[in-house]
Amino acid sequence: MNPFQSALLRPPITPLVYGNGLLSHQTDRWPESAHRRVAAGGEAQHERPSACRALPNPCSRSLLCYGEPLQIPTVRDVLLARRQIAPHLPRTPVHRYPALDALLGARVYVKHENYLPVGAFKVRGGVNLVSQLSAEERARGVITASTGNHGQSVAFAAQRFGVPARIVVPERANPGKVAAMTGMGAEVIHHGPDFDAARRHCEQLAREHGYRYIHSGDEPLLIAGVATETLELLEDEPGIELIIVPLRGGSGAAGACIAARAINPASR
Ligand SMILES: Cc1ncc(COP(=O)(O)O)c(C=O)c1O
Repeated sequence: MNPFQSALLRPPITPLVYGNGLLSHQTDRWPESAHRRVAAGGEAQHERPSACRALPNPCSRSLLCYGEPLQIPTVRDVLLARRQIAPHLPRTPVHRYPALDALLGARVYVKHENYLPVGAFKVRGGVNLVSQLSAEERARGVITASTGNHGQSVAFAAQRFGVPARIVVPERANPGKVAAMTGMGAEVIHHGPDFDAARRHCEQLAREHGYRYIHSGDEPLLIAGVATETLELLEDEPGIELIIVPLRGGSGAAGACIAARAINPASR
């Protein structure tokens, strides 16, 4: 049995609640207390560090503010997001590959998000969020931390809507992705050995200068934006049984779950 076939047979993963409600399986981002709770059979729910609550990042639509309960986007938000991004991003094609079907022993549909500008699904979220910033937030400019694709997404959207953007990346960030971000007009700031160090520096700069901080996952408009990928996929192929998405912080997976549960609850 190959990995794809065993994934089909595996029971669904029980979601864990991280932060103020965001689903995440990126366990290296959990605090000790969350691991302890899970080990004891509970949920990984925990309070966001108080420093974060002081960040100048109130969500303009008040769907999510640090320190407040997360309001998870609904499929209605996904439909609104699709309308919002449509003038800026093309619908991506779904292709079939008979050799891939034969290899995996299933009918496989590949959603080609690499056809999007910046070459990744993340740009859907960046465009949905930045396009809805208030005039005051646009004037302040945005800042985010990224190792690459999220930063490119924010740089692309910021350029499109004339918003100054700063992206904090780890010192050894991929030079090609850094060049892409600067090419789109963003100011790239190198800081620290890894993503978490870059993120902390980013949050400090946001506090000091009042930039609109765009979290790479805890952003309802970002999640609703990336969920449009699954919405399009299920419009093309409503009967899909299993959707496989890449996972890191969890925004793409959260979006896929929101759209899939609403359209085809039997899918996994
Ligand atoms: C191509 C690709 N796959 C997976 C991920 C992880 O996404 P998430 O952090 O939303 O889980 C990213 C994030 O940048 C990405 O660009």
